[in-house]
Formats: sequence, structure tokens, C-alpha cells
Amino acid sequence: MNIVVFHGNLRHGSTWHCTQEILQQIQLLEPAEVTEFSLPGDLPYFCSGCFSCICNGEETCPHVSHTRPIVEAMVAADLIILASPVYGLDVSGAMKALIDHLCFLWMSHRPHPAMFQKIGLTVTTSAGAGLGHATKTMKNSLVFWGVQNVFMFKFPVAAMKWDDITARNQDKIAKQVQTLATRIVRAARSPRRLPNPVFRSFFFALMRDMQKKNDWNPLDRAHWEKLGWLSGQRPF
Ligand SMILES: Cc1cc2nc3c(=O)[nH]c(=O)nc-3n(C[C@H](O)[C@H](O)[C@H](O)COP(=O)(O)O)c2cc1C
Repeated sequence: MNIVVFHGNLRHGSTWHCTQEILQQIQLLEPAEVTEFSLPGDLPYFCSGCFSCICNGEETCPHVSHTRPIVEAMVAADLIILASPVYGLDVSGAMKALIDHLCFLWMSHRPHPAMFQKIGLTVTTSAGAGLGHATKTMKNSLVFWGVQNVFMFKFPVAAMKWDDITARNQDKIAKQVQTLATRIVRAARSPRRLPNPVFRSFFFALMRDMQKKNDWNPLDRAHWEKLGWLSGQRPF
């Protein structure tokens, strides 16, 4: 299995440790190659909001030397992991900057056909609040990129660092991680048997109809046309 991980902070804290436990459990069940990006180190910019990726192509993003390897690793991966601690009841700014840079890949613009066969995982920890918001922010991105199946791991660690997590909570994390890894590996082994998400089919059809009328962004329309998605073909 090919896995790409985006760490939403540079600290080897609770979120990082939970993510590493998940990776280790997956690797006990299935050989896996892991590519890791740590944010903001591997993408040290905010999106400048220039619309260039959307209107002129992703290669014209002013930060393309950072975003290109990220997109290449995502396309090559079977499993995409977005991991972020909760900051201010949502994801870290660094994780949000990643998500913003990759909006051109959303189904409303130019989703990559390979995304529709992938598995996604969100990982988040907080002192106690905001797990739902942070999970939703990351899950939305995976869903709107077209990812087939999204798993979620969230845990209220009630701690500022990994070593301060109580033994009871560490134990709970270990148990949840084990179950999750088994489910992810099962899904990765037989992606064709996974149910087609209803929302994805609905949203894809909505976007296809929008693209048919698209006279505002020729690049987006040409993408859908080239892939045959305006004449009945589907990526899933
Ligand atoms: C700037 C900042 C903002 C935070 N905001 C929240 C918050 O809104 N809700 C919460 O429950 N915990 C919050 N926390 C606590 C962290 O989410 C929690 O300690 C998390 O496990 C840290 O992850 P890490 O060890 O991977 O860095 C915040 C921590 C920081 C540093």
C-alpha cells in the first residue's frame, strides 16, 4: 500500500503519535510505503488567492514548487492521511493552507480521476473540544476531491503533550487504532467492493451539469470534456 501523510503541525505531539500508531498498525497487516509532509515546513505559504490555479492551471500557482510534489504524492497514494491538532476549534492554520492550495482539485473544478479510487483518513486530537469541526474541515476536502471512502480518528487527549496522556487514554487510543487499521487495510485490499458514496454520485452529477453550462472557466470545462465526463463517462 502506498500512503501519503500530511502532518498539520511540526510537533511530534499527540496527533503525530496517534498517526504513527495508525501507520505502525497498518504496516503490521500490510506492507506499506509512507511519504510524509510536515506543515508548514513543506508548504510554508498561505494561498495568495490569485485564482491562477483555478483559471490558468495548477502549474501557474506561485507556490507550485511546493504544491507539485504534494499533488504527485497524493495521486500515487492509495491512502491519504490528513492529520491536524485542533487549534481554535478547527484545524491548524498550516493544514488549512494545504487545503486552500488544493481547491482546484475539488469536484467543482478539476478533480483528478485517480482520486475516486482512494481511501482517506482524518486524524485529530484536542484537549477536549473542536474535534468535530476539525474532522469535518479535513473530511470535506477528501470528499470534494472525490475520495472513495473516508475514515476518521479523533481523540480528546486532555493533554498538552503525548507523555501527559493518562495510561487509560493511551490504552483507549491503542484499541481504537487497532480496529481502525484493520478496517482501513480491509478497504484498501478490495476498493472495488466498497459502496459508492451516494453524496459523491449526487455531487458529481450536479457538477457535470454545471460544467455543461460553464462559460466562465474554459480550463475546468476542458478538463471534464477531455475525460469524457460531459458525455456519460464517470471516474467511479
Ligand atoms: C494554539 C492552540 C489552540 C488550541 N485550541 C484548542 C481548542 O480550540 N480546543 C481544544 O480542545 N484544544 C485546543 N488546543 C489543545 C490541542 O488541541 C491539544 O493539546 C492537541 O492534542 C495538541 O496536539 P499536538 O500534541 O499534536 O500538538 C489548542 C492548542 C494550541 C497550541
